[in-house]
Amino acid sequence: MDKIDISTSISNIKLSSCIMNASGALCSTEIELLNLLKSSSGAIITKSCTNILRKGNLEPRYFEWKLGSINSMGLPNLGIDFYLYFLENIEFKKPFFLSISGLSTEENLLLVEKSNAFSNIDALELNFSCPNINTNKKILGYNFNEISNLLEKIFEFNKKPVGIKLPPYFNDDHFNKISNILNKFPISFVTCINSIPNGIFIDINKESTVIRPNNGFGGIGGKIIKPFALSNVNKFYSLLRKDISIIGCGGITSGKDIFEHILCGATAVQVGTQFIKEGIKIFDRLKNELVSFIKNKDYSSINNFKGNLKKVK
Ligand SMILES: Cc1cc2nc3c(=O)[nH]c(=O)nc-3n(C[C@H](O)[C@H](O)[C@H](O)COP(=O)(O)O)c2cc1C
Repeated sequence: MDKIDISTSISNIKLSSCIMNASGALCSTEIELLNLLKSSSGAIITKSCTNILRKGNLEPRYFEWKLGSINSMGLPNLGIDFYLYFLENIEFKKPFFLSISGLSTEENLLLVEKSNAFSNIDALELNFSCPNINTNKKILGYNFNEISNLLEKIFEFNKKPVGIKLPPYFNDDHFNKISNILNKFPISFVTCINSIPNGIFIDINKESTVIRPNNGFGGIGGKIIKPFALSNVNKFYSLLRKDISIIGCGGITSGKDIFEHILCGATAVQVGTQFIKEGIKIFDRLKNELVSFIKNKDYSSINNFKGNLKKVK
């Protein structure tokens, strides 16, 4: 078993396993973060934070079923200072990624500035894709001018490795536009995809929606979104500079799913819905399944097949 190498690196940050949690999945509180530190995840990412604590949307705001999840959490988080100081008195060995999600340009700049002062933070993931905040405003990831202006400002002073959490894209025009922008900046990675926005799940007995905010519309995650996550990983693998790593996220429930993400070009993967469903032991299960899957394919490392997806001729 242990001859199979599932370690990876993202911009010189070494992960002993390529599997980690997705932002928002059981990574908001001290207890949840301590659990992740003790687990076999290769790295940890926090809940997307804002400058000040947020309670988020009214409940029920998360619902799961066999094929996926729907949520409209509204960014409940303990505020950036909690996440920055959380690490102060803790000994830990794995990379720690801070996810930030300012609600304005000014707030995003402040969050980046604050985190630059903390050497314990290995990398920042800028959440440009929150689907559940202020429904009148576009998701930042779909507003190409605004992304470009914000990145311009961030890279005037930022010294940390930065990744961007992207929303799902569905057409080539969008893939090309966002890739052209990202290729201009010294970003280290992209994570794709965030939840697919504006889904509805129906409780057929009650003939009703299942979450309260936004009239029941919410971001969809889990098994059901895997084909879109894979297509985004693969598109960005071909369009982005080769030094920009891709963290695949979306629909992962098994070692085989992780193999597929890596085949599409992912350097590491994040697990959201299935982690919430199954709890912390998922990291051992996925690791074992991935190792067995790779072994059965007669490979010895994830680098043997990363990005090698064949296309039907
Ligand atoms: C309850 C919940 C909360 C989430 N919160 C965040 C968040 O704060 N920041 C973020 O970038 N993504 C957030 N996401 C999106 C996940 O990180 C992930 O991109 C998405 O769920 C797809 O992965 P999955 O199919 O493994 O669930 C959240 C997802 C769920 C289900």
